[in-house]
Amino acid sequence: MAKDTPTTIVIFGASGDLTKRKLMPSLFNLYLKDRLPKNFRIVGFGGTAFTDEAFREQLLAGARQFATYAFTDEQWTAFAAGLHYLSGKYTEAPDLQRLDELISGWESGNASRLYYLAVPPKLFPVIISNLDATNQLSEDSGWRRVVLEKPFGTDLASAVELNEQVHKALHENQIFRIDHYLGKETIQNILFTRFANTIFEPIWNRTYIDHVQITVSEQVGLEHRAGFYDGVGVLRDMFQNHLMQLLMLVAMEPPASFEAGHLRNEKVKVLSAIKPMTPEQVAANTVRAQYRGYREEPDVKPNSSTATFGAIRLFINNWRWQGVPFYLRSGKSLAEKKSHIIIRFKEPPLSMFPMQTLKPNMLVLYLQPDEGVHLRFEVKAPDTVAESRSVDMEFRYAEAFGQSAIPESYERLLLDAIQGDASLFTRGDEVEASWTLIEPILEAWEKRQSPPLATYRPGTWGPVEADSLLARDGRWWMHDEAELMLER
Ligand code: BG6
Repeated sequence: MAKDTPTTIVIFGASGDLTKRKLMPSLFNLYLKDRLPKNFRIVGFGGTAFTDEAFREQLLAGARQFATYAFTDEQWTAFAAGLHYLSGKYTEAPDLQRLDELISGWESGNASRLYYLAVPPKLFPVIISNLDATNQLSEDSGWRRVVLEKPFGTDLASAVELNEQVHKALHENQIFRIDHYLGKETIQNILFTRFANTIFEPIWNRTYIDHVQITVSEQVGLEHRAGFYDGVGVLRDMFQNHLMQLLMLVAMEPPASFEAGHLRNEKVKVLSAIKPMTPEQVAANTVRAQYRGYREEPDVKPNSSTATFGAIRLFINNWRWQGVPFYLRSGKSLAEKKSHIIIRFKEPPLSMFPMQTLKPNMLVLYLQPDEGVHLRFEVKAPDTVAESRSVDMEFRYAEAFGQSAIPESYERLLLDAIQGDASLFTRGDEVEASWTLIEPILEAWEKRQSPPLATYRPGTWGPVEADSLLARDGRWWMHDEAELMLER
């Protein structure tokens, strides 16, 4: 990165929650780590009327509340000198013209700009077209990049249309579609576990792996987000993006390099090896459910059939994974906030010991909380003739690197966008490939009400139907360490 090139970061939707909670604490931390360009400015743009001073005050309050690191008043004051605010309407080209004039006033010669659209996706096309109309996207005198928050579309058709609209003004390499899961260290660590070691990759296939479980469970319910969530549901909110990303990283072939093109090519290949489900397959291979009490939440429609929990069983039809089921589940108001990936290996083909069966090995990637990697294997129980016991070999991030070593995911992603590295962002064809798989499930769930909407008690691990999905295959969900121990 040319660290001396003047760089302006414009945040549309700057008076919103995301800016206060995530974006600004992340940018501030990058500043404290001396990773921002030397000559940087951050401009908030939004409908609310703020002076620069009021904007800074609000962000300081946010940093005090949400930053996970300590900072001094002097550090904040130095950082805040680069913060500005401009109020205006996204839909009015003259307002964006004023934005350009403000930024141009600071620039001379080569200068770069990052536009971060932390606004509802329906505003993406108009903002991009107004940026284009005011000549703010041409890269004649420095790079111009646009970061787009999720959701990218609400179904396949809308995602395709949105891609077409943004491509009218931007080249794909100027577009950074965010999935904040890719900014999480532990999720990037899936790639390191697989491809920075030699011991896992030779057995990472159908010969040795019995099945894979991916769980992203949340303890929180709606949290007054009915306006966004009701009618959207877990499939659009979590599966189309976050869970699909986890699936791709676990299942992809080794890319030639960590470079964005190589990495994303391999990810897309995983999705294209999965067959979109027929309505009958959706009925048999998915579970949708709503937590009890959801319809009584503020602003939820009284007869809402929005799913707050989903479980999906799918197969990847390629040489590596043929016949290996992948079970994915995610939901709100569940027992715990916990995300993990369990790679369950096959049982030994023959037991030379007197006991009937040996427990299979298991590799568990704990994504959050208590981030780490555990490998479960069998040992001889001492002072027995031939009894085996399961033990865990554990790596914990907090122990190895200290709890504070894990940065906020937006920190990584903002820095990558400033540096032009799109590896951890979703490419246009990738987002469409994901919608291609989610769409038939959405159709069956929403248009045919199939499978029927199950319910579950808040604070549990979801509906019994999700257990039946695995039980039919003679398998079961492994929820937590206690559960994993039970198996021993
Ligand atoms: C967001 C969803 O993308 O991810 C939220 O819109 C969800 O509904 C959140 O709560 C979960 O993110 P994390 O980082 O807390 O696992």
